[in-house]
Amino acid sequence: MGEDSNNMNKGVISEKQFADKEPDKVVIKKLINEAFKARKMAYAPYSEFLVGAAALGSNGRIYTGCNIENVSFSATICAERTAMFKGVSDGCDNFKYIAIVGAKNGEKVEFCYPCGICRQVMVEFACDGDFYIIVARDEDDYRVHTLEELLPGAFDRF
Ligand code: THU
Repeated sequence: MGEDSNNMNKGVISEKQFADKEPDKVVIKKLINEAFKARKMAYAPYSEFLVGAAALGSNGRIYTGCNIENVSFSATICAERTAMFKGVSDGCDNFKYIAIVGAKNGEKVEFCYPCGICRQVMVEFACDGDFYIIVARDEDDYRVHTLEELLPGAFDRF
């Protein structure tokens, strides 16, 4: 199996784009596009709310994920955690961006914000001071947030 079959797109992010501390429009568009592709894989027979996410690891690779529901509802995992955990299980535990797209099946995609559990997982694996959360309606219509905005005063040490 080639590397891409493991859902990683090596080399899509240039060194300059990667080194930039400012959110990069080209990277953001690519991540939104990957999140839309991942959304097609959502397994959500109970809520019919389909979510896709694409996280850019500090190794330059993109890890995608969808929500995966379960008849025992609490066993459900969100798209954001699926994406990040795929990265972690591949040896990448540090991310610079995560893009999220979600909507009920057949409805227009509206801004879909990460749940509290996913925000807490982001605290664990975010690139320090250099992590952006993108919620998008489409490639050109998105909002950029920091974790400090979405989870102020987060629990991050004990
Ligand atoms: N969900 C996500 O995957 N990410 C979010 O940001 C919000 C919620 C999923 C979980 C569940 O499968 C469905 O959406 C409804 O809550």
